Amino acid sequence: MARRILAAGNWKMNKTPSETKALIAEMAPAVASDEVDVLLCVPAIDIPAAVEAAKGTNIAIGGENLYFEESGAYTGEISAEMLVDAGATYVIMGHSERRDYFGETDEDVNKKVIKALEHNLVPVMCCGESLTQREQGITMDWIRQQVKIGLLNVSAEDVKKVVIAYEPIWAIGTGKTATADQAEEVCKGIRDLLRELYGDAVAEEVRVLYGGSVNPGNAAELFAKEDIDGGLVGGASLKTSFGEIVNYNK
Ligand code: G3H
Repeated sequence: MARRILAAGNWKMNKTPSETKALIAEMAPAVASDEVDVLLCVPAIDIPAAVEAAKGTNIAIGGENLYFEESGAYTGEISAEMLVDAGATYVIMGHSERRDYFGETDEDVNKKVIKALEHNLVPVMCCGESLTQREQGITMDWIRQQVKIGLLNVSAEDVKKVVIAYEPIWAIGTGKTATADQAEEVCKGIRDLLRELYGDAVAEEVRVLYGGSVNPGNAAELFAKEDIDGGLVGGASLKTSFGEIVNYNK
């Protein structure tokens, strides 16, 4: 089965609800596409405005984080049920910023993946190495560990719904994109791991994205690679020119 390209935006801590409404209204015509899936992951407080603004368009809306408990005394946290009720259909977990600034561990990521799946939210599970790890030649060992733990106890049927985003930390927000070959090497390594864990057929269905300074100028080369099924885009998803990434092949 051919995997559809997914152009996913991660707005991080940017845009208020009213700015969200305006930006999506402006962006919608530019990101229209029959061939590419389009997703915007926005701050939790922006989700209702984003869902409203995206009505009748091809844009899916996702959260940027969730907590792995069902509900209860977890001040400040957002549950899977809340995301679904607000209209989100995807959710990010394991982003390197959450790992670095908020102490998210591989085990937390695993619990978040499982909780998202329980609620029919598509998990966008991030992984990525630091510059030191790359320089020490341990990139693939590190990524394999992150992905293996992140997918612990996730069935073959469920893993097909998961999106894995490979984001080298040194390429995030730095303007230093991994070369298409570097990105492909790791995305292929992730698919090889999926083959080991779940077999060929399942591995062929899982979408693996690249993230890290994706822009209108490099999207086509990255997305043309065999094992790269789209991008998780930060800065460049906050502009209408995100449409040029979505329509990279036009
Ligand atoms: O989640 C997105 C990544 O952190 C990439 O961000 O495109 O601004 O480098 P960036």
